[in-house]
Amino acid sequence: MQEITDKRLYKRRRDFLKLGALASTACVQNLLASQPISQILNSPIKNPQNLDITDKSHATTYVNFYEFSTNKPEAVKLAKGFDATGWKVEVSGLCENPKTYTMEDFFNFEIEKRVYRMRCVEAWSMVIPWIGFGLNELINAAKPTPNAKFVKFTTLLDKSKFPDQNATFPVLKYPYVEGLRLDEAMHPLTLLAVGMYDELLSGQNGAPIRLVVPWKYGFKSIKSITKIEFVSDMPRTTWQEYNPSEYGFYANVNPNVSHPRWSQSSERVIGKLFKQETELYNGYSEVASLYEGMDLKKWF
Ligand code: MTE
Repeated sequence: MQEITDKRLYKRRRDFLKLGALASTACVQNLLASQPISQILNSPIKNPQNLDITDKSHATTYVNFYEFSTNKPEAVKLAKGFDATGWKVEVSGLCENPKTYTMEDFFNFEIEKRVYRMRCVEAWSMVIPWIGFGLNELINAAKPTPNAKFVKFTTLLDKSKFPDQNATFPVLKYPYVEGLRLDEAMHPLTLLAVGMYDELLSGQNGAPIRLVVPWKYGFKSIKSITKIEFVSDMPRTTWQEYNPSEYGFYANVNPNVSHPRWSQSSERVIGKLFKQETELYNGYSEVASLYEGMDLKKWF
């Protein structure tokens, strides 16, 4: 048993070192972005709901990444060649095992392919095949202390990489910050993604590592993360800062709670002709117990 585990770990490490070696020079970043890694990550795709996957051309172009631009095609253009060489993620705060992770380190976790729905607060949706690992694996390794109640995530702050961070009047207050309650972060559905569609993440989709929380509006799924902190108080998020009456901390997909300026009862499925009804928790009813007894209109 031990030997099998060791072999599996060894293989995963070796596979990642191959990727790591490729990633170590800036000039191969573009090549890497188009490098199919299915041969390396040949685990089967988990698609228990048998969802109809959105065409990759939509998922990689119809993007929201305000650090580049609020204009979707412009964001894609500006994200081209995004250099994530030497990326590090600091895991710190109220935990026994704080650690600064390299991307190689993350490949010691169980990497999986998981197909999830993604519902944006702007009332559109997609279905994306992600590659990543459960955030709970990282949290278990960090061992949060009993007073850690929330997890705070922060995107890289680098004016040389993100044009809007360098603007005279930036659209948002940077760095982009998001948060989850610790039990939400520990939920088995919560993913740290390093790739999608059998490739490493592109700049516009949040290279090299992003959060994916499929039962929440897309803005919770923070991109290009550099810091993950365990904290005692609910972190103030970027979108709450921007407009607290429109964007709450929880942001659970809910057709019964309208955005102040539009209904959330249905969604435009990108690449499809017809709209579809939006489902509570985006169809992930298994998370309902996390919110038992909570007034979802108040905690939107
Ligand atoms: N993360 C950062 N750092 N900056 C952003 O502008 N946009 C959010 C989220 N993560 C955003 C971000 C929003 S509004 C959505 S809908 C999703 O990313 C979009 O992810 P996608 O572009 O990969 O579809």
